[in-house]
Amino acid sequence: MLNPIKLASKNFLSSLDTSCEEFHHILEIAKNFKNNDLNIKLKEKVLGLIFDKSSTRTRVSFQVAMSRLGGTTVDLNPTTSQIGRGEPIRDTARVLSRYCDVLAIRTFKQTDLEEYAKWSSKPVINALTDLEHPCQALADFMTIKEEFLDFKDVVLTFIGDGNNVANSLILCGALLGVEVRIACPKGYEPNSLLIDKAYEIYKNKNLLKITNDPKTAVLGANVLYTDVWSSMGEENQKDEKEKVFNGFTIDSDLVSKADKDAIILHCLPAYRSKEITDEIFESHKSRIFDQAENRLHAQQALLSCIL
Ligand code: CP
Ligand code: NVA
Repeated sequence: MLNPIKLASKNFLSSLDTSCEEFHHILEIAKNFKNNDLNIKLKEKVLGLIFDKSSTRTRVSFQVAMSRLGGTTVDLNPTTSQIGRGEPIRDTARVLSRYCDVLAIRTFKQTDLEEYAKWSSKPVINALTDLEHPCQALADFMTIKEEFLDFKDVVLTFIGDGNNVANSLILCGALLGVEVRIACPKGYEPNSLLIDKAYEIYKNKNLLKITNDPKTAVLGANVLYTDVWSSMGEENQKDEKEKVFNGFTIDSDLVSKADKDAIILHCLPAYRSKEITDEIFESHKSRIFDQAENRLHAQQALLSCIL
């Protein structure tokens, strides 16, 4: 039986907290969980969840993952706990890590997540920040692997806002050697420090392309991926962004320029007729709900490798 190997890093704050080998290992464990080929138990282990932003998939998939592993979760509501009253992160982290075995945190600033990790004696997992969404990327590459078996020659094109989801795709693409193209309006490019890190990892392979032209970015691509134009916390930019992102909708015209067997991904939640048309969202090319299911298997694998 395949045994989970403990990750070298205590925490999973960024996609770069795993090596390429570890990333492949998590995907392999996740595949085995999905096929019911693994019976790993984390009996009596407790996962603490802190969500400063809304969540359906991440919250529930972590809860179900922990339940399947024989452990439990405590979902801390920031408004009814002292977190919402502004108790310092360093105090919350020191207390919670004496009760819980691992913490999954969704918050705004990556530096706040890092502060939790600094003061927590137990592993901390990034359940989304403004900068990264590494748990999402695990499920994304699991879904891509299910379709194409191998990452070799896969071209992944992300069309939309160069935000947390795009940042994590870039980092994982670099780690795995996948060609990643990002098409976004001017001024909405992914984080420049992360782009530089990705270029460093890719070495000089020219596999990361950032463009403002979605039509060239999709040419021959195997995976077309999008995310909401206005992320959580950016609600006040919605009207402006809808104007700027005009032309960045994944529609049948863009899909026709991709590889004929291309698949469509979306991290969800989606705004139909904004970043993606209903026709494409519901089309036979969509793997969006497999991708959402894979959040569960990937996080079950991550928990097994981090605990
Ligand atoms: N994709 C994702 O993280 O979804 P939730 O916001 O529902 O957790
Ligand atoms: N970029 C989106 C992802 C949601 C899963 C957001 O941060 O709201």
